[in-house]
Amino acid sequence: MNDPFQEDSAAGPLGATGKSEGKMSTETEEKLAASLTAETTELLPFLPYLLQDFWELGSDPMVIAELIKEQVDLSENTKVLDLACGKGAVSVKIAQKLRVKVKGIDLIPAFTEFAAQKAKEFDVDDLCDFAVDDINEAVKKEKDYDCVILGAVGNVLGSPIETLNKLRSTIRTGGHIVIDECYLPDDGKQEDVRYNNYEYFTKKQWEALFDKAGLELIKTVLNSDDTENLDSVSGMAAITTRANELIEKYPDKKAIFEGYIRSQQNEYDDIDNSLVAVTWILKKRGHHLEELL
Ligand SMILES: C[S@@+](CC[C@H](N)C(=O)[O-])C[C@H]1O[C@@H](n2cnc3c(N)ncnc32)[C@H](O)[C@@H]1O
Repeated sequence: MNDPFQEDSAAGPLGATGKSEGKMSTETEEKLAASLTAETTELLPFLPYLLQDFWELGSDPMVIAELIKEQVDLSENTKVLDLACGKGAVSVKIAQKLRVKVKGIDLIPAFTEFAAQKAKEFDVDDLCDFAVDDINEAVKKEKDYDCVILGAVGNVLGSPIETLNKLRSTIRTGGHIVIDECYLPDDGKQEDVRYNNYEYFTKKQWEALFDKAGLELIKTVLNSDDTENLDSVSGMAAITTRANELIEKYPDKKAIFEGYIRSQQNEYDDIDNSLVAVTWILKKRGHHLEELL
């Protein structure tokens, strides 16, 4: 894991060694930072350190595992793709629980390395494969999956319709998509969202897009508090402790670490007050409107 306390590590974002691995576009960097509630790309090198106390980074692996178990015809040949898999909590737990093959892809090498270690620890390394890539590139190559997961990734794949079309392109007809998202209640307002990172859609708007993208909504799970997750009080305490350690080490960057604590708190407040956290499972129909036009 990237350790900003090592001498060379402040130099470059993301690499397990702290060294930058390849140049990414400003937009990719900005969306990457935002996907982890960081308001500035300056925080990128520090995210593995700040998040070291967590395995789950967003979605609830048990909710996703249950949905897949319930809705997908599973066999030993079932292939699942976990896009922006973070530290692999979802991938490893579904491999362990459902005995399916999982490929997890994330842009932060320290995260995929952590995920691979966890797969070993849980004795599912024969079922799991982790790779470092931009998921916008990965969707062009990864095809014919039985199920694809996008858990707590926001707008990294583009607008909601772009996201749905990209996800759809990775699965076979009859395959499933699992999305963990937040939507705006019908009477909610974008201005009420405190961590105002991108435009949230209402449930109705999402549902219209599912249809347009040739996807059938099979089941919706509204997410209650997941105690292992970042939105717990202890989660906030862990983030604050790590941010304070970084402030001590890098006093000149105090403002960005304090900003990180604030944006995390705002995001949890949004989920409690202004947004609805949901997990959807959808099924790919044979064709979709845009293909017919
Ligand atoms: C909030 S985390 C969710 C992680 C995981 N899906 C989960 O639910 O635990 C968002 C993840 O998106 C990843 N990410 C953001 N932009 C990406 C990109 N362009 N390609 C691959 N991964 C990306 C981040 O590195 C981070 O691990």
